[in-house]
Amino acid sequence: MFFISIDTSIQYHNNILSTIGNTPLVKINFESRAAIYAKLEYLNPGGSIKDRSALAMIEDAERQGLLRPKGTIIEASSGNQGIALAMIGAVKKYRVIITVSKKASEEKKNAIHSYGAKLVVCPVVERYDDPRGCWAVAKRLAREIPHAFMPDQHFNLANPDAHYRSTGPEIWRQTRGKITHFFAAAGTAGTISGTGKYLKKKNPNVKIFGVDAANSYFSTKGNQKPYQIEGMGIDHDTPILIYYR
Ligand SMILES: Cc1ncc(COP(=O)(O)O)c(C=O)c1O
Repeated sequence: MFFISIDTSIQYHNNILSTIGNTPLVKINFESRAAIYAKLEYLNPGGSIKDRSALAMIEDAERQGLLRPKGTIIEASSGNQGIALAMIGAVKKYRVIITVSKKASEEKKNAIHSYGAKLVVCPVVERYDDPRGCWAVAKRLAREIPHAFMPDQHFNLANPDAHYRSTGPEIWRQTRGKITHFFAAAGTAGTISGTGKYLKKKNPNVKIFGVDAANSYFSTKGNQKPYQIEGMGIDHDTPILIYYR
């Protein structure tokens, strides 16, 4: 649906990026004595919570001069971070290259492609730093391609900071500070670290739960095995969990 209007006082966003965040809460009617709510992160314009961290990392890089006009964004992603960066690149006119592992779904790969980003599909590897895997390939491309910037979501503290500044305050406001427990899937652990840090600052009694993949590096204490789930699973030691402390 599109509009034409002669009313200049009409309310609108200047571009899609300012519609990121402020997602609604929905009550989940599980049989439980607790009142459980879901925050509908899929209503972000790129379709996931990753829009928040992607925009924060790109804006941080722009501020620091690490990413300049017409530069190239290169990132390894299980899909949603790639979709978010591809969308941001399309709006801000950056070239975007996303390396994904073979386990990323066709839908996610198609979405990345449809924003005009280039996809590099890499094999599923056990260790994140295996040179054939998507993280190491993205690192190599970022070294080789001039004017490239790799957000490196697993190591970039602008990632948890996005949640400290947006997801945490939104949840606190939406629950009027009455939240007792917070649960979120952990991939980079940006969501649980940033949101958790904010909620703990407001009320140290709030309990924070990160949901990891059973076969991840973190869950198995370094004896990880390949697993199929996308996006979830802490695959190496990460400074992002330290941000939480
Ligand atoms: C839909 C979705 N939820 C949660 C996560 C994990 O979030 P985080 O990387 O902040 O731990 C991901 C990661 O890709 C994701 O795609």
